[in-house]
Amino acid sequence: MATTGAGDVVVRLDGVTIGYDKNKPLAEIPSLKIKNGEILAIAGPSGIGKSTLVKTIAGLVRPLSGDIEVCGVMAPRRPVRGELGYIPQRLGLIRHATVFHNVLIGSRAKFCGPLDIFASKQAKEWAKKAIAIMGLEHKIWEPIKRLSGGQQRRVATARTLAQRPKLILADEFLSELDEETMSKVANAVVEYSRQEGAAVVLIEHDISRARSIADRLVVMDDGRLNPFLSETKTLEVKM
Ligand SMILES: Nc1ncnc2c1ncn2[C@@H]1O[C@H](COP(=O)(O)OP(=O)(O)OP(=O)(O)O)[C@@H](O)[C@H]1O
Ligand SMILES: [Mg+2]
Repeated sequence: MATTGAGDVVVRLDGVTIGYDKNKPLAEIPSLKIKNGEILAIAGPSGIGKSTLVKTIAGLVRPLSGDIEVCGVMAPRRPVRGELGYIPQRLGLIRHATVFHNVLIGSRAKFCGPLDIFASKQAKEWAKKAIAIMGLEHKIWEPIKRLSGGQQRRVATARTLAQRPKLILADEFLSELDEETMSKVANAVVEYSRQEGAAVVLIEHDISRARSIADRLVVMDDGRLNPFLSETKTLEVKM
């Protein structure tokens, strides 16, 4: 199956309309390209269709029209297992299972079929490392239901980092976090992207926060992904 290499476009949208009803499209995206290693923020008011756009890129919602290519694969086919990591706005964690178990689901996604001893050990190591990066070692054996909202959000981020994807779709992954934790979590994702050359699409309603994290910002406005409100900058990574 085709996969992306260095310098490639990881996400390409051409003439795409998104929404749930052909008669009431939410937004038009005439053209959008996201390259390997690029961090793109999408901002815009509540209800405009930001989550719908990432769900459409993730292949969870069908576009109403247009062409979508993700990790070298044209929709409706899906990228290779484990290449796309999605942090949903509603986190989709297993509430009665432990932090470790939830994150292990992410790292196991990289492997197909039953895991041999080596793969199983590797998946556990990735999971533990991602939990440590998110500062949740002390909660590793706690069930999700006993964690705060911000801690649960960090578990969802750890689950995606443990998967080691080529593309991360992060929907409001910094909400419910205090400034210090937010900065740590944002830096962990930026660092992962820089080290692995992974692209990140992050949805962020706070424009100044979006600007501080991303290389490029686009704003969804009046039902369009407005290219005139797009800006690019050079990023400083805080270590
Ligand atoms: N499964 C669905 N079926 C039909 N309509 C939906 C569905 N999910 C969302 N919508 C509608 O689509 C619109 C856009 O929702 P979406 O969640 O994409 O907005 P958003 O920009 O992410 O908002 P927020 O900033 O509040 O998260 C809303 O009017 C919402 O009610
Ligand atoms: Mg949303």
